[in-house]
Amino acid sequence: MTATATKSIPTALVIISTLLHLSTTAFAIGVNYGTLANDLPSPSQVANFLKTQTIIDSIKIFDANPDILRAFANTNITVTVTVGNGDIPALVDANAASQWVANNIKPYYPQTRIKLIAVGNEILFTGNKEWIARLVPCMKSLHQALVRAGIKDVKVSTPHTLGILHNSVQPSAARIRPGYDRVIFAPMLQFLRQTRSPLMVNPYPYFSYSPSMENYILFKPNRGVHDKNTNITYTSMFVAMLDAVYSAIKAMGYGELDIVVAESGWPSLGDPNQPMCTVENAMSYNKNMIRVVTSGKGTPLMPGRRFETYVFALFNENLKPGTTAERNWGLFRPDFSPVYDAGLMRNGQSPGPRPRPSPTTGKKWCVPKADASDKALQANIDYVCSQGVDCKPIQAGGACFNPNNVRSHASYVMNSFYQSHGRHDFDCDFSQTGVLTTSDPSHGTCKYI
Ligand SMILES: *[C@@H]1O[C@H](CO)[C@@H](O)[C@H](O)[C@H]1NC(C)=O
Ligand SMILES: *[C@@H]1O[C@H](CO)[C@@H](O)[C@H](O)[C@H]1NC(C)=O
Repeated sequence: MTATATKSIPTALVIISTLLHLSTTAFAIGVNYGTLANDLPSPSQVANFLKTQTIIDSIKIFDANPDILRAFANTNITVTVTVGNGDIPALVDANAASQWVANNIKPYYPQTRIKLIAVGNEILFTGNKEWIARLVPCMKSLHQALVRAGIKDVKVSTPHTLGILHNSVQPSAARIRPGYDRVIFAPMLQFLRQTRSPLMVNPYPYFSYSPSMENYILFKPNRGVHDKNTNITYTSMFVAMLDAVYSAIKAMGYGELDIVVAESGWPSLGDPNQPMCTVENAMSYNKNMIRVVTSGKGTPLMPGRRFETYVFALFNENLKPGTTAERNWGLFRPDFSPVYDAGLMRNGQSPGPRPRPSPTTGKKWCVPKADASDKALQANIDYVCSQGVDCKPIQAGGACFNPNNVRSHASYVMNSFYQSHGRHDFDCDFSQTGVLTTSDPSHGTCKYI
């Protein structure tokens, strides 16, 4: 978040008080605390950092590491633990499940707010027939073991890739893949309903990256993708993915289940052939995703819903195999310095380096490029006015209605968008139809913010 304004004091005050409000309001966001690294701080340092320095209020871990479970005792940060994929078949057995709960949950609960047990990770796409066949029986077995142990508020679920869907280009037409729908999902969704547990999904627009879709994927201004069945135009792939998941489970009669975003994120650094992995893109993706899941506005098909969400990931993890990107998904470096300002520090602080510091030498405004077409500028107006920016000033009777033409109206609202979305250069990109200027475009009664 950028909270400097040099020109208009009232605007600056409004922005600053909004930021303070946001940072003290309970908005719930989680992180995946992966540990494939040899340079991470101790779990108790991590617990202390998250509790005292950030507004992160939940973590998800990829095992049931006792050191982490102990470290998070009495922090009020909730913890989702994971059952190893390979443990699934054995835990179908009631005694084994009880033993697992006795070893991994009971010693820490309730001092550590264990909230959810994720049974394996992305099991349907491991291709392992035994794990797939045992998944739902294992979920039921662990749930029953919790009940026998008198633990009532720890839920059981399992995270899925969006590979569970087919036909997901039009979100409303998405369905659970044939084959999985009856055999796995019918009993799983029934179990989740009966136990009031959420469906967990790992939506990753990152893995669908293509340069032509970049703005759609990164929550930047774009024309959107139209769903002809619902007449909804999606301007964010992440939102379209959530609605695809919803459509698929709704078609099976389970539209009311809560959906947890168990993983999503963006790497801040990649190899030379991964140019999409930049600090700017990671910041744009994560900040906007967090805004969508916490705003309470929901999605077109799920209005008003919030989505419990775990950003991937808390730390850059230096021992992860694969490309450079794999080791750079973190919000923080091992020394707790933020890789970029994701808006998750307490008190609206934004310590650490910013990719493009806002100018200290003078204010900038966002205006249309000279060669931008009216058609493109109209699309910018439509986009910005659908994003909560105040467009009354360009309507008849408004202070910026005259001159009454597309370019002048676009100029006013593109600037409003830029000023209210953090004043990053990319907030004035508009598919390369916007440009920053240092001369104030205000005219007559029309005062640019
Ligand atoms: C713990 O967190 C919950 C939200 O998950 C909140 O409602 C509650 O007030 C917190 N309790 C304390 C003691 O901070
Ligand atoms: C689809 O939406 C557009 C814009 O919101 C509207 O003008 C149009 O009438 C709608 N069409 C149908 C078939 O509902």
